Amino acid sequence: MPKTPPKLTIVPDAAALAQAAAKRLLARLAEPRERFAVALTGGSSPEGLYRLLASEPYRSQVPWQRVHWFWGDDRFVPQDDPRSNAGAARRLFLDRVPAPPENIHAIPTDAANPDEAARSYEAELQVFYGADRLEPARPLYDVVLLGLGGDGHIASLFPGQPQVDETKRWVVGVPRAGMEPYVPRVSLTLPTLASTRDMLFLVTGKGKREILTRVLSGADLPAACAHSQGELVWLVDRDAAPARRDVA
Ligand code: 6PG
Repeated sequence: MPKTPPKLTIVPDAAALAQAAAKRLLARLAEPRERFAVALTGGSSPEGLYRLLASEPYRSQVPWQRVHWFWGDDRFVPQDDPRSNAGAARRLFLDRVPAPPENIHAIPTDAANPDEAARSYEAELQVFYGADRLEPARPLYDVVLLGLGGDGHIASLFPGQPQVDETKRWVVGVPRAGMEPYVPRVSLTLPTLASTRDMLFLVTGKGKREILTRVLSGADLPAACAHSQGELVWLVDRDAAPARRDVA
C-alpha cells in the first residue's frame, strides 16, 4: 500500500473536529469489508467523537457487528478507575450502543503487571491478525485514532523513553509515564500503530499549538515519528493550528 504525505486538516473548533472525525471514521466503516479494526485513543480529544458515535445520525450508520474496537494505549488501572481509557470509551459510547462484547478488545489491565498485560494484548492482536508478523500490504487496523500529548508523546510512547525505539514488540509495558496521570501504562509500539489504512490525529486547543508546530516541523519527538501504511491525517481545530509560516 503506497504511503501518502501527511495531511493537515483545520476545522473551526472542537465540535467541528468531532463531526469531521466521525464522518471520516464512518466513511472507512462503509467500505465493503467483512470486519473492521479500530484503535481508540485516550485523553480528552476524542470525547466529542465518542459521544457522537453513540448518537444519531452516526449511531445507526456504524456496522456494530463487524467493528472490533482496540486501544492504542491504556493506563494500568482497573476499567472502573476514572483514569482508564477503556472505561472512558465504554462510558461515552461502547456501553450505549449494540457493540457485541466479543468485539471489544480492551488492554487487560487486570494482569499481574504492565509487561504481562502487554504480552497478553500482543498475543490477542496476533490471533486477531492471524500472524505474528505485520505485513505492510495487509494492515492490522482500518483506523488508528491518536491524540497529541503536550510533550509530543503519542499513545503512551513518551519522549526519551526506550519504548519509542521498540521495533520488534507489538505492545510494551511502560513503567513510568512521562506525563500525568503518573501511572504505569501499556502501549502499542510505533510499527503496530503504523499498521493501519488510516491514522487520524485529533488535536484541539491553544495549549497544543506550540507542540504541534514542533511536531509538524519534524522535531525529534514520538509524534513526529508516527507513520502509517495508509493515510495519515492531522485533524486540528483553529486554536491548535500552527501559523503556516511556523511549519517547515
Ligand atoms: C493517554 C493517551 C495519550 C493522549 C494524549 C493527549 O492515555 O493519555 O492515549 O496519548 O492521547 O496525552 O491527551 P489529551 O487529548 O487529553 O490532550
